[in-house]
Amino acid sequence: MSGIGELHVQPYVLRFQCVNFVESGCYHGAGLKWGKANNFKKLYSCDIIKDHINKAQSVVEKDIRVELYYGPSHEYFAKLLPTLKGVTFFWLDAHCPKHYDPKLKETPLTHFPLYKELQLIVELKEHYERDVIICDDVRTIVGEDNTAPLAQGRVKDYYSVEWFTYTQMTSLFTKTHRLEIPNQSRDAIAFIPGKEVSEW
Ligand SMILES: C[S@@+](CC[C@H](N)C(=O)[O-])C[C@H]1O[C@@H](n2cnc3c(N)ncnc32)[C@H](O)[C@@H]1O
Repeated sequence: MSGIGELHVQPYVLRFQCVNFVESGCYHGAGLKWGKANNFKKLYSCDIIKDHINKAQSVVEKDIRVELYYGPSHEYFAKLLPTLKGVTFFWLDAHCPKHYDPKLKETPLTHFPLYKELQLIVELKEHYERDVIICDDVRTIVGEDNTAPLAQGRVKDYYSVEWFTYTQMTSLFTKTHRLEIPNQSRDAIAFIPGKEVSEW
């Protein structure tokens, strides 16, 4: 589990001229706080737990740049992404809702929505090839093909993910992005645009 601030990914924001911050899983608002400090024009986040939305709301206060959605990230992304214009910095960090509320009902999609979120970005986000996409907790994806640091044998049972593979996930971006490990992260990866702004 990484905090966005620890990953030192601010240089990507300037280099690729990102104007939107889109997060899945706001928890208590630390990601949004980082987004606000990095001067994005608009910030969007969501959470499947109402109490987390309320906590994040109290952190961002009445900032008109921020939109918060209560519900699963795949539902939010399906609504938001077709309308979203401009280069976007994605912080994909939603997972394991039962860890926070054992009473919640889950499907594979809500347990670890990352693969669906990435598919929706490819399908629905205009010029997604210009976007920066940071994915947290990829060590949990089971399989020999997972080359993320700390990937093998570190998570068990509820925290492991078997309904998609690391290769399926990275294949979505092979034509448009490069894969980087930000700040030697233990378990976050970054899809960085293959073209610089000057090449658009
Ligand atoms: C690791 S925390 C997020 C931390 C936050 N992004 C930050 O940078 O401070 C994961 C959050 O994802 C939420 N979550 C889990 N599954 C979700 C889903 N399918 N859709 C939306 N939110 C989800 C959890 O309720 C929790 O608040």
